[in-house]
Amino acid sequence: MPSHYQRCINPDCRTEFDLDARLYVCSRCGGLLDIERREAIDAASLRVLWQQRRASLDPRDRSGVWRFREFLPFTDDTQIVSLGEGNTPLYDAPRSADYCRLPQLKLKHQGCNPTGSFKDTGMTAAVTQARKLGARLVVCASTGNTAASLAAYAARADLMCAIVVPSGHVSHAKLAQALDYGAKVLEVDGNFDTCMNLIRELAEDESVYLVNSINPFRIEGQKTVAFELAEQLEWRIPDHLVVPGGNLGNSSAFGKGFRELLESGLIDRQPKITVIQAEGAAPFAKFYSEDEHESFVNEEHPQTLASAIKIGAPVSWQKAWRAVRETGGSVITVTEQEIADAKAIIGRDGIGCEPASATTVAGIRKLGIKENESVVAVLTGHVLKDTDYVINYHSENLIAPGDVQIASSFRNSPIKVVSQDLHNLQDLQDILKIN
Ligand code: F0G
Repeated sequence: MPSHYQRCINPDCRTEFDLDARLYVCSRCGGLLDIERREAIDAASLRVLWQQRRASLDPRDRSGVWRFREFLPFTDDTQIVSLGEGNTPLYDAPRSADYCRLPQLKLKHQGCNPTGSFKDTGMTAAVTQARKLGARLVVCASTGNTAASLAAYAARADLMCAIVVPSGHVSHAKLAQALDYGAKVLEVDGNFDTCMNLIRELAEDESVYLVNSINPFRIEGQKTVAFELAEQLEWRIPDHLVVPGGNLGNSSAFGKGFRELLESGLIDRQPKITVIQAEGAAPFAKFYSEDEHESFVNEEHPQTLASAIKIGAPVSWQKAWRAVRETGGSVITVTEQEIADAKAIIGRDGIGCEPASATTVAGIRKLGIKENESVVAVLTGHVLKDTDYVINYHSENLIAPGDVQIASSFRNSPIKVVSQDLHNLQDLQDILKIN
């Protein structure tokens, strides 16, 4: 009997499906699906085994996802599709820590993945499953990073790939990646949520495989980041883990990862998982702030310069809610100004990230966390993912939705120099106003 199966997360349904059933939601009630294991795992020796694998040259051990394969729903003979994802740094960040008045702040930089975002840790699992199922065409809707990631993994797996993106709302860098990796890119006149609806209809055809984070195999890959982080912290779990929220797959995955670590006895407590949304694209934060938490209302017209998280109808909100609720975390919003300033501060630590990632540091500053508490912020994408935003900020030209000028509080503008004026150190000192 296979070690894993799929199960509806709805407590009133809980219908089970085989691992190879090509479903994205429960065929009975429409609920999201979790992948569950049949028998508890004997975790006693795993910490040592995982550590030993770091010195191995086996491609599965070189991957920060497949190194933890005891917790993944695949057998040992599976042909994996990998680009050596994961193994991302956990940084001290003194300037960001000062900015948040939290000396123990650390930044887990998922932008250091092969295609520059956290999506790769999930995509390696989803595309491996696509190949296992014999899919012909892999598809996704995307604000850009999922597109870049899928395009790369589909190329590695030699699968046809089609991507649906909101026309004019994806950064050049992300679009460039998807095109270069050979994906067919469909630019649609609508927002991300329009694209997501279109692609879900398309995926009703058997030969098409959808790899947005509604796909539970994506979540399986992404949950291993919790394992890697716990290992990097020598299994001392931080008080808080803070992530940006868009379609809410990432927060769901961290929730599942930490829960499984706890259940298997590898850790003795979970971090509080807190999700930060941009103020103009914050349906989850609105839901969280309601007293009864009864009705989830989508945001019809999401707005933010952090284009990665410009999402009004997050497909995984129920799983993310479970993660926040189970761990005692929260959900808050940050303004465009707060995102821009936090991003610039993270940059000053020598750690570039994209705007969506900076919601974390902006949010942590506002959360009221005590100085002696430990916090890990997850940076989800690399600074090179959206350079227009960076240049506009530093040249005092960043305009937020509603025509609001962002103050470039930490600007670092380029200095125009006439070549004749720069001959020696004194000239340089005069230009830079230093002595
Ligand atoms: N940060 C970045 C850089 C992202 O690209 C995304 C999502 C998120 C945060 C939000 O993560 O959706 O799991 O809550 N980007 C998706 C995409 C939607 O299409 O690339 P989430």
